[in-house]
Amino acid sequence: MKKERIAVAYSGGLDTSVIVKWLQEKYNAEVITVTGNLGQKKEIAGVREKALKSGAVKAYIVDLRKEFVEHYLWPVLKAGAVYEHTYPMATSIGRPLLAKALVDVARKEKCTAVAHGCTGKGNDQVRFEVSVAALAPDLRIIAPVREWEFKSREEEIAYCEKHGIPVVATKKSPYSIDENIWGTSIECGILEDPMAEPPEDAYQRTVSPLRAPNKPTYITIDFKEGIPVAVDGKKMNGIDLIDYVNTVAGKNGVGRLDLVENRLVGIKSREIYEAPGAVVLHFAHRELERLTLDKDTAHYKTKVAHDYADLVYNGLWFSPLRTALDAFVNETQKVVTGTVKLKLYKGSIEIAGRTSPYSLYDTKLATYSADDQFDHKASEGFIKIYGLPVKTFYRVNKHLRSKE
Ligand code: ARG
Repeated sequence: MKKERIAVAYSGGLDTSVIVKWLQEKYNAEVITVTGNLGQKKEIAGVREKALKSGAVKAYIVDLRKEFVEHYLWPVLKAGAVYEHTYPMATSIGRPLLAKALVDVARKEKCTAVAHGCTGKGNDQVRFEVSVAALAPDLRIIAPVREWEFKSREEEIAYCEKHGIPVVATKKSPYSIDENIWGTSIECGILEDPMAEPPEDAYQRTVSPLRAPNKPTYITIDFKEGIPVAVDGKKMNGIDLIDYVNTVAGKNGVGRLDLVENRLVGIKSREIYEAPGAVVLHFAHRELERLTLDKDTAHYKTKVAHDYADLVYNGLWFSPLRTALDAFVNETQKVVTGTVKLKLYKGSIEIAGRTSPYSLYDTKLATYSADDQFDHKASEGFIKIYGLPVKTFYRVNKHLRSKE
């Protein structure tokens, strides 16, 4: 009988290495691993060999960086989507693309199921499975970590030793870390105590603001229709641009975040993040929008940003609502072209200047000098009508007038 084929999202870590063997045993299946390159600096080296040694019949490594930046990160940036006003969602936004890559391989390799290594209490299982359901409703999804018998890391290691699966001998970090070009997510260990300040060793890609340079670093970012296209006057592709900003901001201690967040599965969790590039790019993009968007669109867009972030965090990337919100966002971005100058200094970002061919800032209207062209007299009638509803209300409801 022909064996079932299963494509598994594979990072090369302990869990997914165990999964490769476990699926063969439990489902009598041929396992094909899929590892996505989302711009993470670690992990990729040696992954293919490891997968094959763990028993995979084939190991795919897919470079998803360009697609990630252009079709996932730029839309999130243009939307201004940041979860709970803090988390730029590096992990959240990576999952749908990894799910897509997994489905693509599953199709090519004629698999009937896909598997992932997410735990049963996290958001990532939801993101993976909802994305797979949207892209390939017929594919079965297996979540071994939710099903299997192992209760500890030690049991998993024992299983590896029994089956000759290579386990990395390096000292296990107390943290669970997920990384890609948009940021690093770090949890577990001492970080589970929300009152504990993160120890310096928890941070992976930023220097402590205390050890950052003693003088500010200026950085200028050019945007074209909401997308960053050049930094410090140098045109760059998206991958290089984000890498560059990550480096400059990281050196200045910018982009460290500490958040008690609301997970989709109902619990509060505490996680720290490092997203130097994402934080700087969101900051710059927001400043350019302040200059170029009209008031109503700008105010309305903050609501869209909020909903967009929830949608990404909650695993609904592949959804009609996201497509519809993108249409709105893209319409607003037609004027978000220009240059923003920022000052990075010991963990802080300050705006140092902004300019745009579509700037709505009109000195003749804003100035308090003799060049003023604002029609001051028009204000009188405007205020009369504008204040009429409250005036009427308090004329009638004398008893509700403020006594303070
Ligand atoms: N809390 C983040 C999210 O739900 C990140 C999850 C993964 N974090 C980790 N350290 N492995 O998007």
